[in-house]
Amino acid sequence: MTTSLATEFSAPVSQQASWVERGKKVLMSTYATQPVVLSEGQGSYVCDVDGKEYLDFASGIAVSSLGHCHPGYVEALTAQLQKLSHCSNLYYNQPSIELAEVLVANSAFDRAFFCNSGAEAIEGALKLARKYAGKTRGHGCTTILTMSNSFHGRTYGALSATAQTKYQTGYHPLVPDFITVEFNNIDSVLATNLDTVAAIIIEPVQGEGGVHPVDGTFIKQLRALCDEHQIVLIFDEIQCGVGRSGSFFACENFGIAPDIVAMAKGLGGGFPIGAILAVEKVASAFSPGDHGSTFGGNPLATSAALACVNVIQTEQFLSAVKDKSALLIATLMELQGKYPCIKAIRGLGLMLGVELDIPVKPIIQKCAAAGLLLVGAGDYVIRLLPPLTVSEEEIAAAVKILEQALAAPQ
Ligand SMILES: Cc1ncc(COP(=O)(O)O)c(C=O)c1O
Repeated sequence: MTTSLATEFSAPVSQQASWVERGKKVLMSTYATQPVVLSEGQGSYVCDVDGKEYLDFASGIAVSSLGHCHPGYVEALTAQLQKLSHCSNLYYNQPSIELAEVLVANSAFDRAFFCNSGAEAIEGALKLARKYAGKTRGHGCTTILTMSNSFHGRTYGALSATAQTKYQTGYHPLVPDFITVEFNNIDSVLATNLDTVAAIIIEPVQGEGGVHPVDGTFIKQLRALCDEHQIVLIFDEIQCGVGRSGSFFACENFGIAPDIVAMAKGLGGGFPIGAILAVEKVASAFSPGDHGSTFGGNPLATSAALACVNVIQTEQFLSAVKDKSALLIATLMELQGKYPCIKAIRGLGLMLGVELDIPVKPIIQKCAAAGLLLVGAGDYVIRLLPPLTVSEEEIAAAVKILEQALAAPQ
C-alpha cells in the first residue's frame, strides 16, 4: 500500500483540544474544569483521549474507591445490567436489600434509605431529623446547627447547611433555621438555645473546607450533648466514609456513632448512589409517603455499591488502607523537610491535605501536565485522594511528581 508523504510525516492530531472546545460550548460553566478529557481507566491510572496516562490521586473527588475497572466491580455491574436495571421503590429488589443488610450488619445503624448523590443524602438526613424532632419534641424544635467551614452539597437544604458564604452567594433566601457554630468549639454550641435544636450536622473530616479532621474531644462532647437534649447527631461521611479514613465509617476513628450517617461518593465506586443510615428510633420517624426517590435503591447502583462494600469492609483491606496512609504521610513529611512552602500535612487515612503558603492551582496544573491528578481544597490546600487500592509504588511515583512541581513552582 502506498502512503503519501504528507500522511507519513504529519504530527499526531490532538483530539483533546477539540473535545474541550466542544464541551465549553454546550456544558454549563459550573466548574473550573481542567482541559483534560478522560476516556479510560485501569487501577490507579486514567488515560485521556490522546492516550496520555495520569496517576489518579483525585479518584473523581474521592469516588473511585476501588480504582478503575476493578474486575469484581465490572463483573457485578455487568451481571446486574443483564438482569434488571430499574424497578422503582414500588417493589423491592435484591441488591438494595443485600446492601442495606451489609451496611447495618456491622454498624451502629438499623435501617437504610438509598438515593442518588451526596447532596440528596444530606436532604434526607435533614428531613428525617426534623421529622423525628417534631414527633418527639414538638413543632418548635426545628433548628439545625452546622459547623463553620463546612460543606454539605449544592441543593437548597444542603447549601443552607453549608457554612461558607462563597457557595451561597446569589441563592438567597436559603432554607430557614440553620445556625452556624464554630467547628471544634463546644462553647459555641453551648451558646445556642439547645431546646429548639433538632439536629447537629458535622463532617468528621472537613473535605472541601481544607481537610480538617474533627477534634476527638469535641466530637465526644457533641455526642453527650445530643444524648442529653434528644438532639439528632448527623455525620456527613460523604467524602470521608466507606473506608477512606482507614475505618469503614469515619466515626469509628473517634469511638462514637451518630444517629444518622450520610454516605455517597466512594459507596458506589463510580456509580451514582447516596445513602442515609439511621438508628431505629430515628429511622422510624419516616412513614410511607414521607420521603422518596424514583431512582433510590436502583438495582444497578446498589449492586455496584455492594461490590465495593464487600471488598472494602474486610479487616485486611482496611488495615492496608491504614498502612498506605502511614506511608503516604511519612513520604509527604520528608517532602515537608525539603520544601518550606509546605505548612501542614493533615487528614485521615487516604484523605490527606497538604497546605502550602503559596497558591496550589499552578502546582496542581504542573502535576497534571506531568501525569498526576490532584484536587484542591480552597486556594492553599492540595488534596490527595487516591483509590483505596493504590500501591506503594504508585504512592512513591505520585510524591515524586509532586516534588518536581514543588521544586519549580512557577
Ligand atoms: C462532605 C460532603 N458532603 C456532601 C457533598 C455533596 O455530594 P454530591 O456532590 O454527591 O452532591 C460533598 C461533595 O463534595 C462532600 O464532600
